Amino acid sequence: MKVLMVGAEVAPLAKVGGLADVMAALPPALADLGVEVAVAMPCYRGVREQVDVRPAATIVVPVGEQEISCTVLETRLPGSEVPLYLLSNDPYFDRPQIYGEGGGDYPDSLERFTFLSRGALAVPEAVGWIPQVIHAHDWHTALIPLFVRAGAGPSGVRSMLTIHNLAHQGTFSLEQEGVTGLPGELREYIKQEDQLNLLQGGIKGSDMITTVSPTYAREILEQEGRLKEALRARAQDLFGVLNGIDQHTWDPEADPYLWEPYSADDLSGKAVNKASLQRVMGLEDDPRRPVVGMVTRLAEQKGLDLVLEELDRLMGLGIQLVVLGTGEPRYEQGLQEAQARFPGQIAVFIGFSEPLAHRVEAGSDMFLMPSRFEPCGLNQLYSLRYGTVPVVRATGGLADTVREGQAGNGFTFAEYRAEALAAALERAVEVYRSEQPRWNDIVQQGMRGDYSWRRSAEAYLKLYRRLARES
Ligand code: ADP
Ligand code: GLC
Repeated sequence: MKVLMVGAEVAPLAKVGGLADVMAALPPALADLGVEVAVAMPCYRGVREQVDVRPAATIVVPVGEQEISCTVLETRLPGSEVPLYLLSNDPYFDRPQIYGEGGGDYPDSLERFTFLSRGALAVPEAVGWIPQVIHAHDWHTALIPLFVRAGAGPSGVRSMLTIHNLAHQGTFSLEQEGVTGLPGELREYIKQEDQLNLLQGGIKGSDMITTVSPTYAREILEQEGRLKEALRARAQDLFGVLNGIDQHTWDPEADPYLWEPYSADDLSGKAVNKASLQRVMGLEDDPRRPVVGMVTRLAEQKGLDLVLEELDRLMGLGIQLVVLGTGEPRYEQGLQEAQARFPGQIAVFIGFSEPLAHRVEAGSDMFLMPSRFEPCGLNQLYSLRYGTVPVVRATGGLADTVREGQAGNGFTFAEYRAEALAAALERAVEVYRSEQPRWNDIVQQGMRGDYSWRRSAEAYLKLYRRLARES
């Protein structure tokens, strides 16, 4: 089986959220199963400097009225043998950020990702390696299935679209419709009444659709948003495959960012990480206080409203709160105000920091994810592996991975309400304080679970085979 994956983020080269982690870890897991897999992504600023590249081909990519010449650089996915193709066009990608600066997306986003989608389809022929399946991720590459239908890719190639987040659909004004260069009938696929919607095009045009957890697959069929009709019409071709985690990058026994390694058999190092985290974050040095961590994009999806709304009640539980995040200014500001109100008890770091993300995972006792919705969520899985008990809203992938009660590995709440969150955290704090053996069981359940990519990669391989058979 030969598969080309295309996406806008690949860790550690270019990362905003979990998409990057998936793009980095799923391909090597597929390669371990014998799949011949390659990845294509944009050559953003700074990427060339992080890897050894060689020019592999020059392609010409039509975008609107232009014919853009593009050098395809070849390298390997860091830490693996998987070929990685970088599509370079500096006017589009040599910029400070991946998607945009100051909150919004770059105004030429449609052009940039049309270029990526169309360009990626030209790579196979240019480098002499022909895949059977093109696997596109999220709206940035959702035009790929349509270009395949228009005959732009290798002949007979099948398309899969993975939806990592239905909240991001790639919408643009109708005036821009010429940019994609799609022929008339396929252009209809991306039209909604008043706008263009790239994800809709991918949903309508791809041979198969997946999303990143079984529960989210059900939820997106039930939701009332703009894409509900398009999704329901493809319900037979929609599958939920739970993400795994990169067990090398996220391994408390061998994580170079930690102050002290630890394992399920010997948790003494975890206490060292907690004390160090408290110290560097300016929290009161008190081993008995439960430290609650969050590492998150500061976006509406992530439920920060609930935290800020019930802040007094939450802090009244005697916890310490550590938040690492960046995103919408209203949350950044709200969190900074919270820190000022509870000095020594709340520590907020606004920014993106891979080392600190690992340290928060290791040094916290609990990890909070009160998401409004969560397609999969990776941080709760990192937390489980790090013996940091997740307290989550039971939605999407969080519902599929965190269980409370008999043989539970965490604490959950159902309703998107601040009181429900506070009650769940209260239960967690109660067990932490007064039922040490039960707490230890919960930690052990989490640490001994299997979150490897292997299972998910097997599920994808099955779907690829099915696609190839159907052709
Ligand atoms: P999403 O993709 O919706 O942001 P996930 O839980 O799937 O949510 O993945 C988020 C990923 O991004 C995790 O690897 C997390 O550690 C990382 N991350 C998010 N915010 C930050 C940050 N400020 N600093 C470092 N890593 C972050
Ligand atoms: C998205 C989702 C997140 C998921 C990630 C990787 O960004 O918000 O829940 O884990 O993609 O699939």
